[in-house]
Amino acid sequence: MDLSTTYMGLRLPHPFMPGASPLVDDLDTVKRLEDAGAAAIVMHSLFEEQIAREQISTFLHTEIHGESFAEALSYFPSPEHFALGPEEYLEHLGRVKAAVRVPVIASLNGTTLGGWLDYARHMQQAGADGLELNLYMLATDPEESGADIEERCARIVRELKRTLHIPVAVKLSPFYTSMAHVASRFDTAGADALVLFNRFYQPDIDPEELQVTRALRLSDSSELPLRLRWLAVLSGRISASLAVSGGVHTAADAVKAIMTGAHAVQMVSALLRNGPGHLKAVRAETEAWMEAHEYESLAQMRGSMNLLACPDPHVYERANYMLMLQSWRDR
Ligand SMILES: Cc1cc2nc3c(=O)[nH]c(=O)nc-3n(C[C@H](O)[C@H](O)[C@H](O)COP(=O)(O)O)c2cc1C
Repeated sequence: MDLSTTYMGLRLPHPFMPGASPLVDDLDTVKRLEDAGAAAIVMHSLFEEQIAREQISTFLHTEIHGESFAEALSYFPSPEHFALGPEEYLEHLGRVKAAVRVPVIASLNGTTLGGWLDYARHMQQAGADGLELNLYMLATDPEESGADIEERCARIVRELKRTLHIPVAVKLSPFYTSMAHVASRFDTAGADALVLFNRFYQPDIDPEELQVTRALRLSDSSELPLRLRWLAVLSGRISASLAVSGGVHTAADAVKAIMTGAHAVQMVSALLRNGPGHLKAVRAETEAWMEAHEYESLAQMRGSMNLLACPDPHVYERANYMLMLQSWRDR
């Protein structure tokens, strides 16, 4: 069975890889992921705030510092919140790269144009074969329009494409006003791939303690359909390749993501729960499923359930919506 795929310009033997996560913090786990057949290794993110904090700290040590800088610094998470600081991240990236033969994709996580983006070049120098840019943000500024946010993000992508020779994937949130338009803008800006989607971690509040509570809940397959919808809409309509991230736990999930258009299948929660060997199992079960259904290659199956042939996805979505509501009566 030919499971080969091209994702963000990288030719891979199959689409399965770990998504950005702490799985890569430990070299033994990285080796176990490679042994389980991971097609690539995606590093966890280096955050804009970490880099900015370090840059401000350097400034404070070298310049006469005003109180406003010290105050700005106090908003950032302190270094002990992160497994690796910016320089350690680059060193670890070099170690991961030396330890495995598969491509290593570094991850930068931030939302503004600024000096922190220089780290993309450092990542490239440290051996990264690709860069995943995570644009995780919540639009809280009443003065900033959707169009302004999109332009800011597209400029970041253009800037990275201008300065790097390695491919760039953009990890998106599903909450843009016009998802298809945003995807097309990043495509035009030069993104080699889009990763669908970031998970939004929703903090709760503790009314007794008057505190915000954070609990990181791993995903399950119920998070997949949101990704399937947008894979199906975007597949074949943009030249960037597509990765699914979120809700892939089983071979059935992987088959659905590929049928709707995924070139790469990223898993995190499933690997954190079941260990790196789960990647091998999902890959083997996907292959067995494809054989049983007489597919000859991944390319043949990919996008077979996309909406490219649908003249008007908007009308189709409305129809689905109405049918879904009516189906309650037919239970
Ligand atoms: C513990 C943990 C750490 C994560 N760290 C990162 C990160 O550093 N950068 C990033 O882009 N995504 C990060 N993610 C998000 C995952 O890459 C992925 O998008 C998300 O978990 C959805 O995929 P899943 O359903 O397979 O878990 C993290 C997820 C978990 C559970």
